[in-house]
Amino acid sequence: MPKASKQKPPELNIFPGNWTIKNEQMFKAFDLSFAQHWNPANFPWEELDGKNFDPKERIAQAYWMSKLALFEKSGIGAFGFGAVRAAELNLEDPTKKMLASITYDECRHDEVCRRACNKLCPNWPYGYKPQSDFEQKALRNIEALYEEGRRYWKGFKGAWEYLTPELLFAGFFFAEIGAVVATMALLRAMAQEFSEEQKLTVTRQMKQGFIFLSPLLYQHRPEFWRLPSDFDKVDQEVEEIARNAGLGVLTMEEKVRYWKQAIEKKRGEIEEMGIKVPAIPELGVEGVEVQVKKNETIATSF
Ligand SMILES: [Fe+2]
Repeated sequence: MPKASKQKPPELNIFPGNWTIKNEQMFKAFDLSFAQHWNPANFPWEELDGKNFDPKERIAQAYWMSKLALFEKSGIGAFGFGAVRAAELNLEDPTKKMLASITYDECRHDEVCRRACNKLCPNWPYGYKPQSDFEQKALRNIEALYEEGRRYWKGFKGAWEYLTPELLFAGFFFAEIGAVVATMALLRAMAQEFSEEQKLTVTRQMKQGFIFLSPLLYQHRPEFWRLPSDFDKVDQEVEEIARNAGLGVLTMEEKVRYWKQAIEKKRGEIEEMGIKVPAIPELGVEGVEVQVKKNETIATSF
């Protein structure tokens, strides 16, 4: 594998390929993924009936599912891209396959969002015509988020030009809990060779992860997101309706608590690799001060 950006860039080609297993933990994660496949088509979709909700409740739930779907889509794109790049760089076999498996998992998550929206509010959000001011505001929020998604993707693709693949793959580890075994194995494999400076970049990527996910798991952070001035107000109002309609949307206190818990759970393992956790005062997470500049490229994936 290429060591640093100073070296001549490797020829990017998926062939001849390899069946090499270096990272046993990665192989185990991939091996387990076969048994863990679940089927979103088997959900009792007939029990989800739009008629059981009033129009605001339908929209509010579709709103939340489409907000979640933005991050599922970013996962499909980033892990899919990562799988191809890993193959082009001739990384060991289970790493390539695990990235493909996570891509597939993200497709499944996105498919759940699509089906839920289709039941509650057909054509939401891409082809939906708002019927009221409330609906118009909710749709505007989603459209604004998805427009910003373009900026994320442009930055993510561009980052491969100036960050080493190791650092970018290490950034993948901040992905969701479902993929945690594999992504931690990936980080562990990459981090062994990292200099102190590269380790600090991973810390920065963790902070970027918080900022990128903030519209879903906290409230949007302006370091990256450029959203309408009343975005959060509308967002909170719509989420509350979704929560009251029975969709398990977390309250702000719960979001903060669970996110902090998720980070603290990994802290020991991360620090053991010599990587420091960034301070995230919004969540009460202590760590290294990281200033993420406005419009800084988000080089992590989800
Ligand atoms: Fe996901």
